[in-house]
Amino acid sequence: MIAGITGDPLVYLNGDFTPLSQAKISVLDRGFIFGDGVYEVVPVYARKPFRMAQHLERLARSLAAIRIPNPHGAAEWQDLVQQLIDTSGADDQFVYLQVTRGVAKRDHAFPEHVVPTVFGMTSPFARPSAVQRENGVQAVSMPDERWLHCEIKSVSLLGNVLARQFAVDRGAQEVVMFRDGFLSEGSSSNIWVVKDGRLLAPLKNHLILEGIRYGFIEEMAAARGIAFDMRPIAQSEVAAADELMLSSATKEILPIVSLDGRPVGNGRPGPVYARLRQGYDEAIAAL
Ligand code: PDD
Repeated sequence: MIAGITGDPLVYLNGDFTPLSQAKISVLDRGFIFGDGVYEVVPVYARKPFRMAQHLERLARSLAAIRIPNPHGAAEWQDLVQQLIDTSGADDQFVYLQVTRGVAKRDHAFPEHVVPTVFGMTSPFARPSAVQRENGVQAVSMPDERWLHCEIKSVSLLGNVLARQFAVDRGAQEVVMFRDGFLSEGSSSNIWVVKDGRLLAPLKNHLILEGIRYGFIEEMAAARGIAFDMRPIAQSEVAAADELMLSSATKEILPIVSLDGRPVGNGRPGPVYARLRQGYDEAIAAL
């Protein structure tokens, strides 16, 4: 038994579908030894992947950034994801894909002639609850202590893991991180600010992961006439925000109603959140 997992679902490993309990990799896998790999989390609604093309493009970018050859073309990845979805009885799922550099004698430099390890699994997706959507979540601020290539969706997540635990230890659900006094992102989400009806997001650069929802929310803002600025956002602006939100594959969009124990705006989910939430739900219903 693995903590938190019921049953023995099928997973994909290097070309085969295997029960999770039988899926094994070498202890010399560079994902295990060095965190030398990348991943994706693709949400699936009513058995249909959401924004799959964008997730596969980001996977290709992450792989290229760390010079792992992409083991599959887009059509093969789509086929693999579909097969994973078919193994599950759940309508809403999230599919996890991971590629590591492969198995080799331990040496920091890239090994030659190594075959990437490809792993995929799907899990039932419990979408954010009505309580979370209507009451929002709590967040706490912290300095961003991660490395300088946060644009790569790397499995080296120690900085993110410690950041999330920082929130949990303080009874909050997420952190809002700042680097040199400017907003970066959450431990596993992008962070959004609303001031005077304008939606603000940090620049897409090496200091944040460009979420697939980042692009989607940008599109929704344009389609719905919400003024949108992408620019450096000072910590003082976050502290004075009318609304704060987070977005991720698993959290969708959620309002942050308190930061460091103080209410954000009036302490209730705001009107810009409500419009984006409606757009999100409409897009999912139209899948
Ligand atoms: N995390 N920033 C970070 C650091 C993230 O880990 C994530 C997602 C995002 C949002 O990206 P997207 O909208 O594509 O989910 C931003 C996933 C869900 C995870 O690690 O489980």
